[in-house]
Amino acid sequence: MEPAVQALAKPQPHAVRTLAIDIGGTGIKALILSATGKPLTERARVKTPRPATPAAVMNTIVELAKAQGSFDRVSVGFPGVVRRGVTVTAPNLNGNWGGFRLADALTKKLGVPVRVANDADVQGFGVIEGYGVELVVTLGTGFGSGLFVDGKLVPNLELGHHPLQKGKTYEDLLSDAVRKKIGKRKWSKRLVRAIQTLDRTFNYDRLYVGGGNAARITVKLPENVKIVSNVAGLLGGLSL
Ligand code: BGC
Repeated sequence: MEPAVQALAKPQPHAVRTLAIDIGGTGIKALILSATGKPLTERARVKTPRPATPAAVMNTIVELAKAQGSFDRVSVGFPGVVRRGVTVTAPNLNGNWGGFRLADALTKKLGVPVRVANDADVQGFGVIEGYGVELVVTLGTGFGSGLFVDGKLVPNLELGHHPLQKGKTYEDLLSDAVRKKIGKRKWSKRLVRAIQTLDRTFNYDRLYVGGGNAARITVKLPENVKIVSNVAGLLGGLSL
């Protein structure tokens, strides 16, 4: 069906199909969610184009969207600060993303409503329980973070760029590039120390650890820390 026709057809609420996109520094992922948040398609993943300019990333998303089939709306997790659908920063994408109206641009290309938020914030929506203080961190190309209080998001937390040790930030110490350099054991020990600092700082009820590298942690984490699947990065798109 043509995108414009889809938009006019107004599906019944229970039949709404959400295309969830997760833009990462290494890969761009997509799947379609049912109205109750169930994945309806296999998760597809393609490499993030380099240079990751707005035009190149948009083209990749349009290709992924075509391959997924029909959908009524789109959610996008973006690896940087996003305000009202406009991207502000993108540390791990090389391109000029400051002030890019990503939600509007994608709405024009795909013909359905599009919402964009920070990738870790979207991930959080997919995993939180909705009460107390819940912190989400994502371990991938960069270090993502999302903070929720009784289910309400504190947007664009950006802990990744906060200094943790000797002027080095969480992202400087725990990025994917660093893990490859120092190995997963040393990296995991670092992560435990970072989690101790986060616990003392935020006094969260629960911490969720997601992102592609969550599966590479070699140590046991404290009781109030839960490792969540990488697919969760897309499931939150429904709440968005
Ligand atoms: C960005 C965050 C993002 C994280 C994970 C960081 O470099 O500043 O906004 O959530 O990477 O993609």
